[in-house]
Amino acid sequence: MPESNNPPPSRSLPLALKITAVALVATAVVFYKLDPFDPASLPAEELSLAVEAVEKCNGRMLQGAERVGVAELKAPEDFAYDSDLGLVYTGDSDGWLKRVRLNDSAVEKWAFTGGRPLGVALGPDGSVLVADADKGLLKVTKEGVVETLTTEAGGLKFQLTDGVDVADDGTVYFTDASSKYRLHNFIFDMLEGRPLGRLLRYDPTTKTTELLVGDLYFANGVAVAPSQDFVIFCETPLRRCRKYYIAGDRKGSIEKFVDNLPGTPDNIKYDGHGHFWIGLPTEMTSFWYLALKYPVIRKIMAITRRHGWRPNLERNGGAVAVNLEGKQVAWYYDYELSMITTGLKIKNHLYCGSFVFPGILRLNLDRYPARTAGCPWSNSGDL
Ligand SMILES: *[C@@H]1O[C@H](CO)[C@@H](O)[C@H](O)[C@H]1NC(C)=O
Repeated sequence: MPESNNPPPSRSLPLALKITAVALVATAVVFYKLDPFDPASLPAEELSLAVEAVEKCNGRMLQGAERVGVAELKAPEDFAYDSDLGLVYTGDSDGWLKRVRLNDSAVEKWAFTGGRPLGVALGPDGSVLVADADKGLLKVTKEGVVETLTTEAGGLKFQLTDGVDVADDGTVYFTDASSKYRLHNFIFDMLEGRPLGRLLRYDPTTKTTELLVGDLYFANGVAVAPSQDFVIFCETPLRRCRKYYIAGDRKGSIEKFVDNLPGTPDNIKYDGHGHFWIGLPTEMTSFWYLALKYPVIRKIMAITRRHGWRPNLERNGGAVAVNLEGKQVAWYYDYELSMITTGLKIKNHLYCGSFVFPGILRLNLDRYPARTAGCPWSNSGDL
């Protein structure tokens, strides 16, 4: 028999493939329909891919950066600088508040919170205030004794205490990023897209906790302005930080501080010399932008995430320096860098921490400065 009378074996494949594809799609649709995860639409006017131009950039910050304390620091999330002692306090994922001596990078396990210390700030009396994701707002005395200050506000327990700063008068400003999701599944807060975060104030004299601003989208870093008349708080998915006035004519009101950051803001720290530094875990990729825009994408991400699929969507992480007027002046980043949660300039170095990666990234800013020509939107060959 001529071979042409036998159907070639490849003919049957497309049908099998079609059946498999239909079965896969049908299964996916059933999974999707049955899944109770119900993401919300974010405010459309707050979403954009626009990035406000920064004056100067160093987009290759890994060239020249060193990593210190890699063996001792598993995931140092935030820093508080004590200039008198010449050291930095940082919270680690093993539940320890550690301190790092800057002259020789010696790391000391200092106080155990038993939770996950995230935001840290130095109090006027030399104590350290800690936003512990698991334990709430804590104070660690100069002697290293851990005290719990508050774990709830208005009857709503904190689920993810995140950022903290202290005013000169000792008043503590802090955030609860989400009243629903804990740190281990914080990503579902972003995927759900509801404003479940709060900016709060703790008064150490009355020992009371007060809600300042509710309905925030993943309320993250907090910094008190050196003038002591406003507090800045950052909302990660919206790529913005706003001011909340705590004194003067505008007391109690909210105003824009900085919008359209080159990445999603995490902690914000004041460097004592006219600049706030904002840690940026990732830039806003077009994928994340579409996900924020379309709840259906976030629902699919949530389902696949729960089944263990986690694509690497982060890149161009780093830190941006912003002046007191909210103008972005210098951006340090690298395509290969992600999950940077804090950046802080101390003397002539930029120190970056991460809630995932070990060690502290240190960059000498005299040797590796940001330049006008280093910015992606700059096509001038100057400098
Ligand atoms: C670092 O500072 C500490 C405390 O001030 C001091 O004891 C130590 O010798 C210094 N180390 C270096 C390498 O300078």
